[in-house]
Amino acid sequence: MTQDELKQAVAEAAVEYILPMLESDTIVGVGTGSTANLFIDELAKHKAKFDGTVASSEASTARLKGHGVPVYDLNSVDSIRVYVDGADESNDHLHLIKGGGAALTREKIVTACSDEFVCIADESKLVKVLGDFPLPVEIIPMARGHVARELVKLGGDPVYREGVVTDNGNSILDVYNLEILDPIALEKSIDEIVGVVTNGLFAKRSADVLLLATKDGIKTLK
Ligand code: 5RP
Repeated sequence: MTQDELKQAVAEAAVEYILPMLESDTIVGVGTGSTANLFIDELAKHKAKFDGTVASSEASTARLKGHGVPVYDLNSVDSIRVYVDGADESNDHLHLIKGGGAALTREKIVTACSDEFVCIADESKLVKVLGDFPLPVEIIPMARGHVARELVKLGGDPVYREGVVTDNGNSILDVYNLEILDPIALEKSIDEIVGVVTNGLFAKRSADVLLLATKDGIKTLK
């Protein structure tokens, strides 16, 4: 199977997984990226079974609306039953690196508001130690130099993501060459740097379930 076929398979598996949760008043949190896009396309086939969604990016909002799926402002909903999103890397503890699509801040906010976080990925994303994928950090633009110097002190090599402005009007530094042995500690340390909005480690609040598409079928990790 190709990587695209694996992504399609896990998008379909995610809809099967959440179908029993869907009721007329259910709000579904929807992530961002190529895997999340396939999930959106599958979820839309069941739009009559739930109330609507909260999306983690303008891109996902547009895709959902294109399918006629209602998208609510986060502040107008009481709760989100389940959040479904992809990842750039996951370890065995379901600590993630996210933000390859620059949506990490809204993704982390929607995660925080959701009862359950279901991560969907193909098997290439499962790693022993996080950090081969450069860690995205969303920053206030004027703090770029300061944050970069602090990230070097933490052992990383930050690179400015040229030409990218997040949905929140901010910039991204991608931090290379981190071997992330303690994701929770690093997530906290980076969050403490003045000028950082969010970092792409989802470890303090990890995924609850990882649906992993493999050539042998979908594996469910908890
Ligand atoms: C976007 C993300 C995505 O979930 C992550 O980049 C994975 O994307 P894809 O499904 O395209 O591989 O965090 O900010």
